[in-house]
Amino acid sequence: MGRWREVTVGVSEAESAEVAALLQAQAPGGTVIEETREGTVVSAYFPLDSSPEPGAGALNALAHHFPHLRPLARPLLEEEWMQGWRSFFSPLPVGERLLILPPWEHRRPPHGRVVVVIDPGPAFGTGHHPTTQMCLEALERNLRPGMRVLDLGTGSGILAIAAARLGAKKVVALDTDRVATKAARGNARANRVLGRVSVRTGSLDGRLKPFDLLLANISSQTIIEVARPLARAAHPGAVLAAGGFLAEGLSAVERALGEAGWHTEDVLTGDDWRTLVVSRT
Ligand SMILES: C[S@@+](CC[C@H](N)C(=O)[O-])C[C@H]1O[C@@H](n2cnc3c(N)ncnc32)[C@H](O)[C@@H]1O
Repeated sequence: MGRWREVTVGVSEAESAEVAALLQAQAPGGTVIEETREGTVVSAYFPLDSSPEPGAGALNALAHHFPHLRPLARPLLEEEWMQGWRSFFSPLPVGERLLILPPWEHRRPPHGRVVVVIDPGPAFGTGHHPTTQMCLEALERNLRPGMRVLDLGTGSGILAIAAARLGAKKVVALDTDRVATKAARGNARANRVLGRVSVRTGSLDGRLKPFDLLLANISSQTIIEVARPLARAAHPGAVLAAGGFLAEGLSAVERALGEAGWHTEDVLTGDDWRTLVVSRT
C-alpha cells in the first residue's frame, strides 16, 4: 500500500538546487537531493490522500520551467518512506522559541528554546514544510498559557504538542487518519504532554467545548468545508491559523472564512504556500 507518491528526476548538478526549490514549494513531504551512480537525482514526496493526483502541480511546473527533464512518479511503500525521511530530518529552530528535534538527536538544545521531539513515522509533520512552520509561528505568537487549543488535522501531532509545551491547558488533536492519530499519541507521550493533549480519530463534531486558539493545516478544500464548524467551535475573539494551501487558493479560503464569521488578521507566506490568521468576530 503506498501512502506517498515519490517524484524523482535526474538533473545536472548546476540545476539541482533550483529544481529542488521548485518541487519543495509544493511537496508536503519535502525534497531530497542525492548523488547516485547515475548522477544527481532530486526526489519530492506527496501524500496520496492530498488530492486526486498528488504532485500534479509540481510536475506541471517542472514541465514548464525545465521541459528537457524526464521526471518519474511512483507510489512509495510505507517502509521505504519511513527509512527515506530520516535522512533529511535534522534539528529545526522555528520562530523565536521552538526547536523541533528528531528522536535520535541527543545534543543539548540551545538555552531558552522549547523542545518538541517528533517521530512522524508515516504521518505528515516533521516541521520542515513551510505550512507547518507558519502554523507553529502563528501558534507561538497567539498562544497564552491556560488556553484551550484545537489542532484539526494533527498528523504527527507536532502543532498540538508544541501548543501544550508552550503552556496550553488543554489541546484536542483530531485526524481522520488512524495512522496519524497513532503517531500523534506516541509523540504526545514521548513529549510528556499526553495528559493535556487528547488525540482522537475523526473530525469536528458539534460536541466540542469552544476553543481559544484553533489550528487547521490541511488543504483549501477542507478548510472551506469546515469554515463554519470551526467558527461554531471557537469563542468570540478566538484566533484560527488555517494553512495547507497555495497562493492561488488564498482568495477562495479567505472568502469562505469571512462568510463563516472569521476576520482576516494576517496572511503568512512560506514559499508558494499561504497561511491565514483570522479571528472569530
Ligand atoms: C498537511 S497534514 C498536517 C499535519 C500537521 N498538523 C502539520 O501541520 O504538519 C494534514 C492532516 O489532516 C488530516 N485531515 C484531512 N482532512 C481532515 C479532516 N476533515 N478532519 C481532520 N483531519 C483531516 C490528514 O489525515 C493529515 O494528517
